[in-house]
Amino acid sequence: MARQRRPGVNERMKVTVIGTGHVGLVTCVTMSMLGHDVVGTDMDQEKVALLRRGIPPFFEEGLEQALRAELTSGRLAFSGEPADALRDAEVVFICVGTPARSDGEANLIAMEGAARDVAHHGRDGVVVVEKSTVPAGTSERVRLTLTRESRGLRFDVASNPEFLREGTALADSLRPDRIVLGVQSDWARDVLRRLYAPLTDQGHELLETDIATAELAKHAANAFLAMKISFSNGLARICERAGADVVAVADVMGSDPRIGRAFLNAGLGYGGYCFPKDVAALDRLASRLGYDFRLLREVSRMNDEAVEAAAAKVHEAVWNIEGKRIALLGLAFKAGTDDVRFSPALQLAERLVSAGADLHGYDPRAADTAREELPDLNVSDTAYAAAAGAHCVVIATEWPEFRDLDLARLREVMAYPVIVDARNVLDREAVARAGFAYYPTGRTAILTTDVTAGPVSVEAVAVASGAA
Ligand code: UDX
Repeated sequence: MARQRRPGVNERMKVTVIGTGHVGLVTCVTMSMLGHDVVGTDMDQEKVALLRRGIPPFFEEGLEQALRAELTSGRLAFSGEPADALRDAEVVFICVGTPARSDGEANLIAMEGAARDVAHHGRDGVVVVEKSTVPAGTSERVRLTLTRESRGLRFDVASNPEFLREGTALADSLRPDRIVLGVQSDWARDVLRRLYAPLTDQGHELLETDIATAELAKHAANAFLAMKISFSNGLARICERAGADVVAVADVMGSDPRIGRAFLNAGLGYGGYCFPKDVAALDRLASRLGYDFRLLREVSRMNDEAVEAAAAKVHEAVWNIEGKRIALLGLAFKAGTDDVRFSPALQLAERLVSAGADLHGYDPRAADTAREELPDLNVSDTAYAAAAGAHCVVIATEWPEFRDLDLARLREVMAYPVIVDARNVLDREAVARAGFAYYPTGRTAILTTDVTAGPVSVEAVAVASGAA
């Protein structure tokens, strides 16, 4: 196998992406935008059919437009046939799901399937790159599978963890903070450097490590960010009792460059497909390697506690939850996405419904995905419709549009003027002026004796519901 560097900096390479979920599809589009020839493949034929028509199966800002442009450019295609998709690939990205098993360990069955596909259909000299978040040591398993399943295929394995965030995924991939390459041969290093040349030429940093380090670094980064969030949620509990303000505490802490302000927002805790799974997976990996990383279990426990604390606040705000109408604003696990996987907002919804609440949710993007997850959930078309006749509004996701709620209108349609702000999105003074009892997170509550919002008539409720 020739292992020399080929001439030309930004050359066009042949890339195949296995798995077209969030990471996989964004990788397809990004690689195509960087000028490579890309084939995305997925075992879900319906998804492949949608993608061929330029329809992403989930919402991600700017993705649909970019997908269509790349399909039209002729650089990007999708195939449901692994043999088809893998035949010419110089680089294969494995972007399949690695969900947590019930014991927290990552389920790597799809990784093995992808490695097998490459072994059967890949071309000689292919570089196989793990992009899915996997426990350190997985590359060795991939390597073994490729060796066992292929007949003399020459290949190399590398790790290139993805740090994209849902909601800003495309921008994160096109303007990465860092590109991490875990490699163990000059061949893989050379191929991947050439692949990323369009980004490194623009000055984006490339960090090269060994494979186990790259695998571990991804878990470590996510677990550390999760720890920052849980730390702030712990502080929030203390601030509420001490009369301090957790947002101001985070500002002070965050102004120290050694700490940084990002991911210090107390609230309902973290959710989504990455943080909960990655914290558990790192804990499992540690214990498999003989180290008890107790801190990680505490991070996760404190995250569950954040939902409990919000439920307790609703209880404090309305007295008995049973029979109360509660509006839950925000269902997605964070703003900017329709993803409700491991959403703390839905965990709170379940908690309130099981306490007997008449719950009405609203989300600017995640109504359909939330209904799929919790079929019995009432979902309204506007925040005001959800709030009509409500005894309490709970803000559960940090959508920017909730900052701009018309508080006078909200108060008019609600039965009680009570807001639990589990994400600290509202302006305290404005809420106070509008006459609400206000329960933020980690900040002093504003209690008002005027609990008779008015006038709440059948007409007001009907008007609000019709305002959809
Ligand atoms: C995360 C990582 O940020 C990304 O690098 C990795 O590739 C995938 O996992 P994502 O899951 O899209 O990305 O969400 P992120 O923006 O990190 O937020 C995770 C959760 O933490 C959300 O539920 C969010 O609401 C919550 N969060 C975030 C807080 O509660 N407080 C904060 O200060 C920040």
